[in-house]
Amino acid sequence: VPDALWTWPAAAPTAGTVRLRRFRDADVAMAMTLSLDPYVPLIGTLPPRASAAQALDWVVAQRRRPVERVGFSFAVGDRDSADCVGFAGLWLRQVAQGTATAGYAVLPAARGAGRATDALRALTDFAWTRPGVQRVELHVEPWNVASCRVAERVGYVAGELMPRAHEIGGELRDVVPYVLPRPGGLPSG
Ligand SMILES: CC(C)(COP(=O)(O)OP(=O)(O)OC[C@H]1O[C@@H](n2cnc3c(N)ncnc32)[C@H](O)[C@@H]1OP(=O)(O)O)[C@@H](O)C(=O)NCCC(=O)NCCS
Repeated sequence: VPDALWTWPAAAPTAGTVRLRRFRDADVAMAMTLSLDPYVPLIGTLPPRASAAQALDWVVAQRRRPVERVGFSFAVGDRDSADCVGFAGLWLRQVAQGTATAGYAVLPAARGAGRATDALRALTDFAWTRPGVQRVELHVEPWNVASCRVAERVGYVAGELMPRAHEIGGELRDVVPYVLPRPGGLPSG
């Protein structure tokens, strides 16, 4: 049922201290700061050292993801304020095969406080509201210990290293696939 898949959630997905909400134009400041991180621009569409205009283009593009039938890109908002500390995306290009993929980033100044863990929890719970999603996958570079911990804390299980699986920063890099099956879902295979 395409509508149930692509409708924006009636209630913002929430976990711990974060609320996943729609991007607002005011989130341009967050996007500009995040674009200064050396790694974030390598794994998504946010340009490095984005200008205000580039950051606004990125924010507008995030809002269009469901319209384009690509997925959902959420601003990781503070539960109790208008602050934005990062983004969390659920990508549904492979939903016909039952697979959703997740990605996230948190502002350097907001790291180490459980924000990414909360964001991935909320994003994963949101994934189970989408018909046809049988599993969520994350692809993490093995040196990215913080992201591996985030995945593990939320219950994702690491699979076998996939050598040279993703082009990141102009080279093919190894990634560890982390997978979480839909709770109570049908056994696969
Ligand atoms: C990965 C990232 C999202 C983590 O965000 P965060 O809000 O700091 O994460 P959390 O605070 O929820 O949890 C981080 C976990 O990793 C640990 N951690 C954080 N930084 C670490 C580091 N440099 N080395 C080892 N462990 C680290 C924390 O202790 C915590 O584990 P714990 O719960 O066992 O204590 C953030 O570092 C980031 O945005 N990185 C750049 C983008 C990125 O790599 N995205 C993921 C791509 S797969």
